[in-house]
Amino acid sequence: AFNERESLYIALGFAKDFFVANLQKEEGKAIGFSYFKERGFSQAIIDKFDLGYAMDGWDHLLKAAKKSGHSEEILLKAGLILQKEGEPERLYDRFRGRVTFTIHNLGGKPIGFGARILTQDKKQPKYINSPETEVYHKSDVLYGMFQAKKSIREKDNCYLVEGYTDVVSMHLSGIENVVASSGTSLTENQIKLIKRFTDNVTVLFDGDAAGIKASLRGIDMLLEGGLNVKAVVFPEGNDPDSYSRKVGSNAFQEYLAKFSKDFIAFKISLYAEEASNDPIKRADLIKQVVQSLSKIPDPIIRSVYIRQSANLLEIEEEIIQIELNKILLKVQ
Ligand code: GTP
Ligand code: MN
Ligand code: MN
Ligand code: MN
Ligand code: MN
Repeated sequence: AFNERESLYIALGFAKDFFVANLQKEEGKAIGFSYFKERGFSQAIIDKFDLGYAMDGWDHLLKAAKKSGHSEEILLKAGLILQKEGEPERLYDRFRGRVTFTIHNLGGKPIGFGARILTQDKKQPKYINSPETEVYHKSDVLYGMFQAKKSIREKDNCYLVEGYTDVVSMHLSGIENVVASSGTSLTENQIKLIKRFTDNVTVLFDGDAAGIKASLRGIDMLLEGGLNVKAVVFPEGNDPDSYSRKVGSNAFQEYLAKFSKDFIAFKISLYAEEASNDPIKRADLIKQVVQSLSKIPDPIIRSVYIRQSANLLEIEEEIIQIELNKILLKVQ
């Protein structure tokens, strides 16, 4: 007499156990476990994050789950299996021949998976993720929050990264207050979720054009949510995972401490080079900064940042205030 939600949780828990156990079996050990080992993931971190392996083949999970009494209907609703197009009675596993990252809810129950391909096959997506289900609302979830929440409270700060592997690698570097947006833009509910634990966010996006663009968008949304925002840029081509592995955990922690910049200093540093001797670009930069300032809901905090922006941009506070008023008065 379980209700449907409970059946979904149980099926997802079964899938998690199945994927985790696969790492000890022949194929999983040779392919999945070696892959994680190559990335520097220890057994302890595999356990902490319920990392696993989905075997290559159409119905390994489907068969095992049915044998354990899970219905096809529930497996479908859990997003674990799919119906063949045009032949809905033909069912097959969603995750095949991939390593799996378990997505947990705040209480630690599995609610979905991200699954990474092991080869460089350009024809297939790098990651396949669980779909939206009754127990997995993507826009409400941040990857790693279950493992991070205690540390976020203690440190009174939350690192926000792009990817699953960034979260895992940062734990290996001794940093536990980290969650991932999983490559999509932040939602209001995700920001509210962070706010339950801290008012301070440090954005650590990939050191590529897409990552910087995403970080700028993220920063403005976090500001709108009333959070204090810092950001760190990594050297071109690096993300927190690759960079921490490259330099080691001590140097990585030092890098974060040294290069965490206030969002204004971050924005200015992004544009500084091109803006320094081009008046039009300089004007653009000022408008960019003002745009971010306009998102800060608290007028006292805003005024502190206005002063700081004026100093960094070497212009009068009044100029910023005038530009800001244009936006703020338009909105109201
Ligand atoms: P690695 O290459 O394994 O280090 O992963 P990454 O996390 O660095 O990947 P990347 O920076 O390319 O993407 C960041 C995040 O976006 C990933 O962790 C995924 O959550 C998501 N993502 C990346 N590629 C895909 C994809 O092909 N499909 C979907 N749905 N999500 C993706
Ligand atoms: Mn919900
Ligand atoms: Mn990237
Ligand atoms: Mn990345
Ligand atoms: Mn990466």
